[in-house]
Amino acid sequence: MNKIVVLTGAGVSAESGISTFRDAGGLWEGHDVMEVASPEGWRRNPALVLNFYNQRRRQLKEVEPNAAHFALVELEKRYEVSIITQNVDDLHERAGSSRVIHLHGELRKVRSTRNPGLIYEWTEDINVGDTCELGSQLRPHIVWFGEAVPMIELAAEEASIADAVIIIGTSMQVYPAAGLVGFADQAERIFYVDPKPAINYELSRIPGLSVFAERATSGVRKVVDELMGLA
Ligand code: APR
Repeated sequence: MNKIVVLTGAGVSAESGISTFRDAGGLWEGHDVMEVASPEGWRRNPALVLNFYNQRRRQLKEVEPNAAHFALVELEKRYEVSIITQNVDDLHERAGSSRVIHLHGELRKVRSTRNPGLIYEWTEDINVGDTCELGSQLRPHIVWFGEAVPMIELAAEEASIADAVIIIGTSMQVYPAAGLVGFADQAERIFYVDPKPAINYELSRIPGLSVFAERATSGVRKVVDELMGLA
């Protein structure tokens, strides 16, 4: 066994103090997700959308990676590890993971609304009137509902060569991310750590799925110990 692919969702960052999306009755920090995370919401009220992500970006400065993020870094001593995350935070990078693919974008990047290839590092607020070098409004570098997921092909390639897959803290509802495990044909082991595991179609077809129905900090520790031969 050589290659490990880790698929993470909001639950891996929950114990760092970042809210998940679907645990709060469909509201995300008090907002309907479509209001703040869709092209329609952006057209309707760009200031509200910018403010929402500004708050999320500010929050990043107050949170730290937790024991689950750190445990995943240990795997790199023995394996080639790719983290495919649905999260827009940077906690995997800050914990020290060396290969992180962000499926749904990154809070610490912004991009031009005219040319999506113009992407910039950005740690402060984005305001109405902040523009790219072409003079068009900057927007968060986030994949909103209804938008394409450019990193999905790379992520599917990674999944297809994985010897083991670890899924952590995701409700497995949002496609195409939730379907990635379906590409992991070669994987000898597939683990799923989540206090409320949601067995979707792809997971239901995996014989011998190892489910840890517990929080990320404790469940990921057990999975890492097993893969490192410590358990
Ligand atoms: N440890 C592990 N998992 C946890 C924890 C914890 N401490 N606390 C909650 N969870 C689990 C929940 O049980 C749930 O299954 O995290 C999952 C969070 O699910 P969602 O809120 O749906 O988040 P996620 O699956 O990442 O959402 C996918 O949806 O809104 C979009 O683009 C957004 O990337 C996001 C995508």
